[in-house]
Amino acid sequence: MKKFKDKVVVITGAGSGIGRNLAIEFSKLGAKLALNDYNTDGLEETVGLLKSGTAVFQKVFDVSQKEEMFSFAAAVIEHYGQADVMINNAGVAITRLMADEVSIEDYEWIMGINLWGVMYGSIAFLPHLRRQKESSLVNISSLFGLVGIPGQAPYCMTKFAVRGFTESLHLEEQINKTGVAVSCVHPGGIKTNIAKSARGASKDPNLIKKFEKVLTAPPKMAADTIIKGIRKKKARIIVGKDARAIHAVNQLARPVLLKLLQRSIKKL
Ligand SMILES: NC(=O)c1ccc[n+]([C@@H]2O[C@H](COP(=O)([O-])OP(=O)(O)OC[C@H]3O[C@@H](n4cnc5c(N)ncnc54)[C@H](O)[C@@H]3O)[C@@H](O)[C@H]2O)c1
Repeated sequence: MKKFKDKVVVITGAGSGIGRNLAIEFSKLGAKLALNDYNTDGLEETVGLLKSGTAVFQKVFDVSQKEEMFSFAAAVIEHYGQADVMINNAGVAITRLMADEVSIEDYEWIMGINLWGVMYGSIAFLPHLRRQKESSLVNISSLFGLVGIPGQAPYCMTKFAVRGFTESLHLEEQINKTGVAVSCVHPGGIKTNIAKSARGASKDPNLIKKFEKVLTAPPKMAADTIIKGIRKKKARIIVGKDARAIHAVNQLARPVLLKLLQRSIKKL
């Protein structure tokens, strides 16, 4: 898809960070927006930042709630009559903990949002996307959907799962020639609220500061890279220098990658 004027672009988690910047950039391109977040104030703030005159439909709900996601899809179609781009962006993190220190409830919570939310959003919107001549389904994974790191097992688990799910969908839509381009996005460290709002992070302000040192790339750059990837119908969209470097090394030599990771983890 090359042009977004009058296309209906759906974005979850649009109340902050990457989702907010995607909404702003798509509004500049003349798209009609359908936005979600579970934070009412954040979503309102995003709407206030859009190019004036942008058509916006918004719904506050939790993406981990299956019925809410399916009724959102129905409401978007009732409102606009179509959906052209669906971006499953909403996501959360947990503070740094070893895999066996995380409670089962916290594993279930992060899976609900980062994985089930993405799966519900994909399945709810696919039939509508398939009705368009060309359309796009975009799921946000992470650099940590390409490599696992210590202290982030639950997050890595969800982001690897998003990648597996999305890569399967990509091939299915291609084989069936549906016209839906499916992309999986792997951002590196982006300057957003993800570390600050990570579950348990408020107990460890020092850790937030350390994480913020590696989350430095501007979210507008992330949005621009994602939009460029959608235009090119890329199966895998890598965002940021850090993600590009690790992705490249990962492709070539896993032992070298592990050394690099160990070195950067020591800084945390
Ligand atoms: N920032 C990074 O460095 C980075 C790196 C890789 C991947 N990501 C991924 O990018 C996506 C966007 O994150 P971000 O960095 O912009 O973080 P962010 O915290 O700034 O924004 C996430 C948004 O999602 C919303 N959200 C969270 N749970 C929700 C739910 N259950 N239902 C609806 N909305 C919900 C939040 O309210 C927030 O507005 C996430 O999937 C995240 O995992 C971020």
